[in-house]
Amino acid sequence: MRVLLLTGPGGDAQGWGDMSVTQSVADAATAVGHPARIAFVETEQEFLRVIGDGGFDIVWSALYYITPNEKFIGRGEGGMWVADVLDSKGIPYVGSNSQTMKDMIDKFKTHETLASRGVAVPAHHLVRTTDDVSIVRYPAFVKPMGESRSVGINDDSVVSNADELRRQVAWIEREFQQAALVEDFMPGDEFTTLVLGNGATRQCMSGLVSVEPKHYGKHKVLRADLRGVGLTKISRPPARGDEAAVLAVQAADAMRCLDHVRIDIKTDAAGALRVMEVNGIPGMKPHKSWAPQIYTLYFGSPEGEMTDYRNLVRAIIEAGGSRYGLS
Ligand SMILES: Nc1ncnc2c1ncn2[C@@H]1O[C@H](COP(=O)(O)OP(=O)(O)OP(=O)(O)O)[C@@H](O)[C@H]1O
Ligand SMILES: [Mg+2]
Repeated sequence: MRVLLLTGPGGDAQGWGDMSVTQSVADAATAVGHPARIAFVETEQEFLRVIGDGGFDIVWSALYYITPNEKFIGRGEGGMWVADVLDSKGIPYVGSNSQTMKDMIDKFKTHETLASRGVAVPAHHLVRTTDDVSIVRYPAFVKPMGESRSVGINDDSVVSNADELRRQVAWIEREFQQAALVEDFMPGDEFTTLVLGNGATRQCMSGLVSVEPKHYGKHKVLRADLRGVGLTKISRPPARGDEAAVLAVQAADAMRCLDHVRIDIKTDAAGALRVMEVNGIPGMKPHKSWAPQIYTLYFGSPEGEMTDYRNLVRAIIEAGGSRYGLS
């Protein structure tokens, strides 16, 4: 399969990583027999031109939607959604369909969808500064409704009264131009689960996410400054890994995810596992991103992590391709 890897200024904030990560994906795909070409598109016109030019069998996009915003995902309002365009032109692509992509990027919508299908999520509210917040229970956790990489998360994300809540919501509105998602604060262990493939051949692998306790501040949460700097460790869960995997599969089914997603799960105050979010375009940095690390935990080869990485890339591309009858 000839693969078109689509990225742009938003590739790091929205997708699997920056251009060096994209190059790693391209090299891995090519090495396993799926020659890959990178298209870095800055505008909707460029995107449409690249798609129109053809020369590929399947698209794998780091972008949910086309934007010049490098810093954060944003809301994509009025922006051109990649999967919408590919669907309208009948072009095969890796990953979930457009509706699912939109639902995953919006963590409130994700929670609503999961809750309506009986999947455990924390109590959740979409909050703007002008809203009545009397319904919120404390301690609560406040985060942007649609970001990634722990963007917008710090020790002040945990709030214990309405004043602290309003302050954090106002900060999120100001910094990230979006509403806040307010959830029950979940103080327990954190898992991240890779759901790879579709149907009978789907595999589900859980990792326990940990950080040396000395790096945590007031709360056991993954603040933005703990991410992407080699401080998070992924290990085989000593307990409850299978339970996390079952929950992740329920979530992936409820959201109708395809090919590969990474589902973040936390343990609430009563000890129950609940889904925090479903990542539609998981990070793909070799050695460092969680999905490649999880894959190595379960399918580590004697040749080492880069071979595992290539096998993961192959599994993702072939999961997508096989849905379209591509080999
Ligand atoms: N309700 C909660 N209670 C406690 N901690 C939470 C809660 N929600 C999120 N967190 C903490 O904040 C971190 C980031 O939250 P979340 O996974 O929703 O966002 P993200 O930035 O999209 O993550 P990713 O980088 O995986 O895409 C989590 O890894 C977790 O440590
Ligand atoms: Mg997360």
